[in-house]
Amino acid sequence: MSSLRSLGCLATRYGARQAVRPALTTNVRTSIIMRRTYATAPPPPPSTGNTGSNPLLWIGCISLGVAYTYYQKKRAEKIDHLVHLEQLENAKASDASKQEQEPKPKSKSEPGNATKKEPTNKPDDSKKTAPEKDINYQQVYNEIAELLDSNEDYDDGSYGPVLLRLAWHSSGTYNVEDGSGGSNGGTMRFRAEAEHSANNGLQIARDLLEKHIKPKFPELSYGDMYTLGGVVAIQELGGPDIKWKPGRRDQGENKCTPDGRLPDGSKKVDHVRDVFYRMGFNDREIVALVGGHALGRCHLDRSGYDGPWQEAPTFFSNEYYKAITSREWVKRDLPNGLWQWVDKANPEVMMLPIEITMLEDEKLKPYFELYAKDTAVFFEDFANAFKKLIELGVPFTGKEKEYVFERLNM
Ligand code: HEM
Repeated sequence: MSSLRSLGCLATRYGARQAVRPALTTNVRTSIIMRRTYATAPPPPPSTGNTGSNPLLWIGCISLGVAYTYYQKKRAEKIDHLVHLEQLENAKASDASKQEQEPKPKSKSEPGNATKKEPTNKPDDSKKTAPEKDINYQQVYNEIAELLDSNEDYDDGSYGPVLLRLAWHSSGTYNVEDGSGGSNGGTMRFRAEAEHSANNGLQIARDLLEKHIKPKFPELSYGDMYTLGGVVAIQELGGPDIKWKPGRRDQGENKCTPDGRLPDGSKKVDHVRDVFYRMGFNDREIVALVGGHALGRCHLDRSGYDGPWQEAPTFFSNEYYKAITSREWVKRDLPNGLWQWVDKANPEVMMLPIEITMLEDEKLKPYFELYAKDTAVFFEDFANAFKKLIELGVPFTGKEKEYVFERLNM
């Protein structure tokens, strides 16, 4: 079942990519496919059926092979150039079409609109603690899981990655020193936090939950809803089980944290440590958590970066570590003045500047290599670190039930 699902994910991805890049001409697309096929293995010289007793024939075949390889290399360079030009064009043109793909902004009086100052919906201001609420959390899980593939035109065909990013960004503001931030208050529903530049694009995930989940489970707090969305994404896209407890209680706008608490991809490894040590994580946990980049992609119109971290962005695996540790990364300038690393063999795949500085850090590097080799260790470490992340600062009473949700798909 799971391998079927992963094949499905890959298929969806390639289908969806064609849909979101309509401007890429058929010729260029065909060439890219041909280039992928031959990039590392040039075709063998044509066989005559004669097993090679004639030396002239051999010389001819070898010359043909060399000429063909040279031709493919030149052709690949030309295609890279063409694709780059097309990407620049697409980036300009895609703003309009992306707005169409994204859920339409709601009117100011409607719930779900994070552009106004009030909570997006009635906050969970009941005096009930989580154990006293009558919520079937497996049902909530199932309803979110049903949404993941509900729009095949969205991105790579799944809302999972953007839901995982929402869970992480709503938790990753925590400060262990003073207990501020974290997933507890559900404060990203306020404009003051929603508009932090690191949160660009997350309105898609918040709106999805607001529209389809909140009305069915009005007692569900925003913090519980946002974090549960991340758990669903990880499990349904093939990641480890994540134990999850309810208990986050909505808080007011005054609890929004100041901008700048989430990591900035253009910075260096010391910035990563500042951000994650502030939350109480150690080096091993930092490397495990960044493996969340197995899922999803960067978007020019959200972060300013462009592309997925490996070729299967709707399948949770240790492929991220394999990619970062084994591929040859070259710098590529972006049209907005930023730059990123791209895989020399497949420039659609990228790494953020900060990630390569993490890989180069002598204390972090061994964990990248460990997780590249061992999926089971990565899954275990990721599950523990992610559970810790989404529970930072949550005032559990000790009576909450801990769930390991049954999966719908994987
Ligand atoms: C050094 C730490 C990190 C940095 C600098 C970073 C930066 C970024 C950036 C720039 C994007 C692209 C956003 C966009 O353009 O849509 C992104 C996407 C994403 N991040 Fe991170 N991130 C970090 C850690 C994490 C962690 C800890 C997780 C989860 C455990 C995570 C999960 C994701 C996911 C799933 C996406 C894809 C979202 C989508 O496809 O819509 N990231 N991240």
